[in-house]
Amino acid sequence: MSQQSQLTTALAEAAVTAGHAPSVHNTQQVRHTDRRPVSDEPVPPSAIEEITRAVTTEGGRLQILDRDQVLELAATAGHADTVEAEDPELRAELAYWTSRAGEGTGLPAEVLPAQPAQTTVPGRDFGRPGSLPVGPGHDRMAVYAMLHGDEDERDSWLRAGEALSAGWLTATRLGVSVVPLSAVVEVEGTRQTLRQLLAGLGFPYLVLRLGIADPAHAGPPHTPRLSAAQVVDTSAVGGRQG
Ligand SMILES: Cc1cc2nc3c(=O)[nH]c(=O)nc-3n(C[C@H](O)[C@H](O)[C@H](O)COP(=O)(O)O)c2cc1C
Repeated sequence: MSQQSQLTTALAEAAVTAGHAPSVHNTQQVRHTDRRPVSDEPVPPSAIEEITRAVTTEGGRLQILDRDQVLELAATAGHADTVEAEDPELRAELAYWTSRAGEGTGLPAEVLPAQPAQTTVPGRDFGRPGSLPVGPGHDRMAVYAMLHGDEDERDSWLRAGEALSAGWLTATRLGVSVVPLSAVVEVEGTRQTLRQLLAGLGFPYLVLRLGIADPAHAGPPHTPRLSAAQVVDTSAVGGRQG
């Protein structure tokens, strides 16, 4: 078996343990992406520490950006958005995965802001208007963090996903809202800018906005999900038992 096939096999396998970790399951049901500006309530430092610990436990690292770095991120994110908006293939891909809300995937209009939210770092432009009401607030209490690691290999990206999941679920449990910002790592030039923010000591995987969601208004509804049977192939489990 080639090294790549071994890796593919490793990426595809998961241990299924009946009745395990119900609290994670419950947190997953609560978790959702809320793209409105965050409230004026600061994120408790203890929550940031706990989220960072969860990421580290799964082999990732989280760098909290200081004020100057956030301003640099804001400019970089604006540039990444422009680059992506001008790329017809990327626009088509975004439209493909976001527009299929009736088919169990995608983003319904109700989860996308009705007008651009006042955020220090611009959110992704999905190329179509949403219907989620956005208040006049500005998310000045948002904390921006960069998920990163030592390597830029396929299995390190898989670990980054596990670290993201652990950090995101921990944040949800602590009442901290997370919005991932991936355009800045998708565009090579802006990813290099992020590397400089890390002083070259690692590879950026994803930028996260952390904050306390506006408690006065209902957030967006949950996005549709495919059923487990449509996304998990358990046939190998039967094969092993036999
Ligand atoms: C790796 C990754 C990157 C993402 N990048 C973005 C992004 O750049 N902008 C954004 O608004 N949402 C982003 N999302 C959020 C997804 O769009 C979101 O999970 C999806 O809308 C499903 O909604 P839910 O999180 O409410 O279940 C990203 C999610 C993941 C896992």
